Amino acid sequence: MAEETAKKRMLSGIKPSGDLTLGSYLGAIKNWSARAEEYDCFYFMADLHAITVRQNPADLRRRTLEQLAQYIACGLDPEKNTLFIQSHVHQHAELGWVLDCYSMFGELSRMTQFKDKSSKNADNINGGLFTYPSLMAADILLYQPDLVPVGEDQKQHVELCHTIARRFNGIYGDVFKLPEPFVPKVGARIMSLTNPTAKMSKSENEDTGRITLMDAPEVIMRQFKRAITDSDTENCVHYDREKKPGVSNLMTIYSACTGKSFAEIEAEFAGQGYGAFKPKVGEAVVETLRPIREEATRLMKDKAYLENVYRQGAEKAGYVAEKTLRKVYKKVGFVAR
Ligand code: TYM
Repeated sequence: MAEETAKKRMLSGIKPSGDLTLGSYLGAIKNWSARAEEYDCFYFMADLHAITVRQNPADLRRRTLEQLAQYIACGLDPEKNTLFIQSHVHQHAELGWVLDCYSMFGELSRMTQFKDKSSKNADNINGGLFTYPSLMAADILLYQPDLVPVGEDQKQHVELCHTIARRFNGIYGDVFKLPEPFVPKVGARIMSLTNPTAKMSKSENEDTGRITLMDAPEVIMRQFKRAITDSDTENCVHYDREKKPGVSNLMTIYSACTGKSFAEIEAEFAGQGYGAFKPKVGEAVVETLRPIREEATRLMKDKAYLENVYRQGAEKAGYVAEKTLRKVYKKVGFVAR
């Protein structure tokens, strides 16, 4: 059973809707690891969220397990972090329904991701896509976390979660802790390598604009050599997100992988062209991802170990989640079982 701790709590999740990318890593997972000493951490595979877009069942199952292996390979030690599969903890779906009833149609309609996903999946604008943020609010509020580390695109959802929690607390008293999003300074928005005005996405820009955590070094090098930059040729490694989105994206990636500041990167490549810069970014990414790929590949062969991790994770998570759910059911007036 989960121990009661005085530590602050942190929670986040990723949808297994595609293979994890460099964006998922730099915007999210990288900021999760190395915090286990400070926080009581819960991280999950958001499979309930993944089915808002049609998935191939075998792929979804494989990706969910692969994502767990990748979490561990990225440094999330299952002994110190609670790692679980969202659908294994039924309280998510249950609180999700309750919070649907406290989320306003207008609020849900304004979500950028809903507008974006419905324009891309015009033949499948389902109810789940619309109420996605109330389920995400449930994911968060069940665990009463202090901090929710996410990339920039998820900030709006965490803010809506805050609004829903405030509304609920306003009616029933202090049931939910109000969570804060934590968005990293560098890496919160990694763009596609072939279209630097679009986000690098798990489910889009396949094979060209994105790098996945499992890509082989030669694939990564090829993608970086082909990355879109800008038309200037000399002394061109400068950070300017508006005027030079391509090179600014590469600088962000290089900075996040090496820890160098933008000023240091500009100095390092002063007087040089993209031909020198792009392979260096590729090499930095190869070295960052190499240990993750190798460890995840090894872990994927040990299904019994992964099963043990997600079972224990679901048990610990369910214990915490049930406490919140019971309180909510009582507050709204459901008869206790
Ligand atoms: P998802 O699966 O789209 O993305 C997972 C995390 O990765 C970040 N991210 C990026 N960061 C920088 N650059 C990119 N190109 C990039 N692509 C993705 C996202 O911001 C996110 O932090 N709804 C969530 C999953 C979720 C969740 C939650 C997160 C479900 N419940 C509760 C936090 C708390 C999602 O679809 O993220």
